[in-house]
Amino acid sequence: MTEKVGLAQGLTDYGDRDFALYLRRSFAFSMGYSAEMMAKPVIGIATTASDFNNCHRLVPDLVEAVKRGVLAAGGLPLAFPTISLGETFLTPTSLLYRNLMSMDTEEMIRAQPMDAVVLVGGCDKTVPAQLMGALSANVPAIQLVTGPMMTGRWQGERLGACTDCRRFWARFRAGEIEAEEIGELERNLATTAGTCAVMGTASTMAILTETLGLMLPGTAAIPSVHADRLRAAEASGAAAMRLVASKLTPDLIVTPRSVENALRVLLAIGGSTNGILHLTAIAGRAGIKIDLNRLNALSDETPVLVDLKPTGPHYMEDFHAAGGVGAVLRELKPLLHLDCLTVTGETLGERLSRQDGAWVDRSVIRSFGEPIQPQGGLVALFGSLAPTGAIFKRSAADPALFEREARAVVFEDPEDLAARLDDPGLDVTPDDFLVLKHAGPLSASGMPEAGYLPIPKKLARAGVKDMVRISDARMSGTAYGTVVLHVSPDAASGGPLAAVRHGDRIRLSVKERRLDLLVPAEELARRIVLPPERPARGYRRLYFDEVLQAPEGCDFDFLRAKPVR
Ligand code: FES
Repeated sequence: MTEKVGLAQGLTDYGDRDFALYLRRSFAFSMGYSAEMMAKPVIGIATTASDFNNCHRLVPDLVEAVKRGVLAAGGLPLAFPTISLGETFLTPTSLLYRNLMSMDTEEMIRAQPMDAVVLVGGCDKTVPAQLMGALSANVPAIQLVTGPMMTGRWQGERLGACTDCRRFWARFRAGEIEAEEIGELERNLATTAGTCAVMGTASTMAILTETLGLMLPGTAAIPSVHADRLRAAEASGAAAMRLVASKLTPDLIVTPRSVENALRVLLAIGGSTNGILHLTAIAGRAGIKIDLNRLNALSDETPVLVDLKPTGPHYMEDFHAAGGVGAVLRELKPLLHLDCLTVTGETLGERLSRQDGAWVDRSVIRSFGEPIQPQGGLVALFGSLAPTGAIFKRSAADPALFEREARAVVFEDPEDLAARLDDPGLDVTPDDFLVLKHAGPLSASGMPEAGYLPIPKKLARAGVKDMVRISDARMSGTAYGTVVLHVSPDAASGGPLAAVRHGDRIRLSVKERRLDLLVPAEELARRIVLPPERPARGYRRLYFDEVLQAPEGCDFDFLRAKPVR
C-alpha cells in the first residue's frame, strides 16, 4: 500500500476511508484550494500569535514568510493556532500552562494531516512547550523563533527588557529613583516586538534549540525586527519541505549527545536557570534523563564565553552581530559531539567546518582560551535542605557570599513575602539568608519566578545590594544575585524546605556543592507540615496530580517517554 501524504493522511474516522477523503477535499475546496494544491505535501505551521503575547506581535508576518518558503518549495502550507503563553499576562505563572500548551501542540500535530511542521514561538514557555509537543508527536519539525527585541534608550542609557526593568525597580525601591522617572522607564524598557533583549529564558531556549539542531543554523538570535528574521522564516518553510523528503524526525536529532551539547552551551552562555528545567523536560520527551551530577561535571570544565546581561553589559542584538550561536559552538568545538544530526541533514561538525574563520566580536563572545569565567554559569547543589538538588547561577552571583552559614528569615509563601518583606519591623540583617517556601511546582502558584526575592526595603535603603536567597521557586533568566532556586523536593510536596523556621541555621557551600539545614532530624520530625489543598477540577487538578519536581523538568509523568537512553 502506498504511503499517504498531504491531506490524504490521518483521515477522520467515519468507517469509510474514501468517503472521509471525499468529504475532506470537499471542505478544502470551500477554502479555495485547487486540486493540484491539495495533492501536495502539507506543512503545518503552529502559530502562537496572541493579543496577550507582546513578544509574538510579529508572528503573523513570520507565518506569511514561512508560507512563502513552503509554496516556493512545492508544498501546501496550512497554519493552525495553539495556546500562546505571554509571560507577563498569565496568572499565577506561565510555567503552570507549559505542559498544557505542549499537549495542545502534540495533539494538533498528530490529529491534523501534515507531513512536517514549522513551530513558530519565542516567549519563555512557548518554545519548550512546542519542542516537547513535537518530540512526543515525532513528526518532522523545525523551530522558528520570533527573535529578540531591540534595545531602547532613557537619559542616554541603553535599556533592554528585562534585566534593566529589575535594576531600575531595585533603585526605585531603594529611593534612588522618583515615581515619575519609573513611569518614563516603563515606556522605554520594551520598545519593539520580540523576546526579552538579554540572556533570559527565551534567548537561552532559542540558543539551545539551535544547538540541539532543531532550528536553522544562525537563526536563533536574529532580532525580531531585522529583515533577516523574515528570510529565516522563509528558509524554515523550505527546510520543512526537505524534512518531508528526508523523514528526519525529532527523535533522530534530540539524542543523549545533542542534549549534552545543549548543556555545554547553556553553561557557556551563562544561560537562564530555567534552561535546565526546560531542557530536562524536552529531553524527557525523548526518553533522555539529565543528571544534575553530570551538569556539575560539565560545569567544571565548560567556560563562560558570552558577556550578556544579566551578567555582562551586552544585549542579544550585540550577540547576533558578534557572531551568534555559531561563534560559541566553534569555540566549544573540542568539547562537543560533532556527529549530532541537525534539521538540515548535516551534522554539527559539518555545519561548523563551513564557518571556520568567521569574524567574531570578542568583546561579546570570548575565545575558549580567554573566557569570562573558567567554569560554567550554573551548578547544582545537594544536601539536607535539597536532597534531590537545587540550582545556583554562580555567574550571576556574588562570590563573597558563596561559603556561608547564616540564620534563616523565612516567608511561608509568596503572599507572606509580599505582606511582610518591607515591614520596618522585620527581624532581618544583611547577613541572614532569605528563605521562601511554597513556591515550587506543587504549590498553588505553580513555581513562579519569585526566587529573586527583593532585598527588604529597609536594607535596600541602607545600601544592601545582594543577599543569599533560597527557595523552591524559579527565577527569571533576566535576574541576577546570589540566589538558590528549585530546592527539591519542594515545600508543598513535603520536602525539608517545608519545615524550615525563622532562626534556623543554613549552610551554603558552592565549592562543596552543598546546601544544608542545620537542624537535628528529630527536631524536624516534630514539626508538622500540612499538605496542600487538591484543586477541585479541570486542568489545575490534572496539574496537581501529575506534575513532577524540578529535577524531572516539571513535566507530567504520563507525557514523558519511557526512559530508553
Ligand atoms: Fe516574552 Fe521575556 S516576556 S521573552
